[in-house]
Order: sequence, then structure tokens, then C-alpha cells
Amino acid sequence: MIFTIAIDGPAAAGKGTISKAIAAQLGFAHLDTGLLYRAVGAQMLQGVDPVKAAQSLAPSALRDTNLRTAEVANAASKVAAIPEVRTALVAFQKSFARREGGAVLDGRDIGTVICPEAEVKLYITASAEIRAERRFKELSEKGSTDFATVLADVQARDARDMGRADSPLRPAADAVTIDTSDMSIDAAIAAALAEVETRR
Ligand code: DC
Repeated sequence: MIFTIAIDGPAAAGKGTISKAIAAQLGFAHLDTGLLYRAVGAQMLQGVDPVKAAQSLAPSALRDTNLRTAEVANAASKVAAIPEVRTALVAFQKSFARREGGAVLDGRDIGTVICPEAEVKLYITASAEIRAERRFKELSEKGSTDFATVLADVQARDARDMGRADSPLRPAADAVTIDTSDMSIDAAIAAALAEVETRR
């Protein structure tokens, strides 16, 4: 059985949580494609050429526990605008998407570039302020940060991810948009699962 669920959207809209929940519920494999760009971004911060890093990315690099920082997120968004970096990461994502047993991939270009043939395409979004609030809560549990900085980071990342020439973040023409601004996470998961079920 080949069945791909493509989940795109901006940072902190809830797509990671929704993707994990859907994959667990259906017994599908899940790939957080942002981790690929984060792993390349982390290597760039250590002085490695990002194109070389992308071309030689090892699976173990995705298990680096430092990939979740704001600094790495910004580096990821920067390397993601380099066409050679994206090209190096395409084949792995495409084959993951069409693997036997079903797959959920979340990212920015899954429904538009990686798997335009996906059986389900969701675009998960929320206002920049709400997304910044969620990120701020997460980050302030780990250490000190201020809301204005987090909001500026979210907005800068949106502008970069939506404004780049190669594979910009945008909903696929046939994607269903779910705005999670006023939804609990459980309600957002339920809405996403309901969309999947109408197509199975
Ligand atoms: O989803 P995330 O926040 O972990 O992604 C980090 C960055 O990686 C994001 O700002 C843009 C880039 N990215 C991308 O360009 N394409 C993807 N499919 C996934 C992530």
C-alpha cells in the first residue's frame, strides 16, 4: 500500500505534532523533513560548506540533540534557500514518500515539490503572533528569551521560507488548509485526521 500524507506550513503552526499523531494513529512512517535542513544548518554553523554537508548527510546527523535551537532553525532556513542543498535532499524524501506501508512527511514543499502526487495534502497554519507565543512558551521552559525576539525570528523565517525562489513555502493548489490559531492541539489533530479519512 502506497499512501502519502504531505503536511506543509510555517514554523510552529503545529505540523510536527499533527504529523506524529497521524503517523502513530495510522501506523505510517513519519519524516520531519525540517530535520534534514537543520542538520545541514548545524554543520554550516560548524564551518562545513552547506552543499557538501547536504551531499554527504548521514542518518546519524538527524539524531543530533542540538538541532532544535533557534540558532540552528535560522541556519536551516538560510541553507534551505540554496538550490544545490535542496537538490541533494530531494531523492531521499521522494523515496520515503512513496515507501510501502504509508508515509507522513512534514515540511515546506512536500505537497508542491517532493510529492505532488500525495493522496492527502494539508497546509497547517496559524497567525505569526500565536505561533511565536507557542514557540516562546517552549523556549522559556528551557532558558531565558523574550517574546519580541521570538516573534521577529518567526517573521524573518516566514519571509525567507515564503520568499525564496526555489521551492518556496506555499499551499499546493489542492491542499486543504487548517488554521490552528484558535484550536487546541487535540482539535487540530482531529481536523487533520478527518481530512485523511475522507480520502482513504
Ligand atoms: O520545520 P522546521 O522548523 O524544522 O524547518 C527548519 C527550516 O528548514 C525551515 O525554516 C525551512 C527549511 N525547510 C525547508 O526549506 N523545506 C522543508 N521541506 C523543511 C524545512
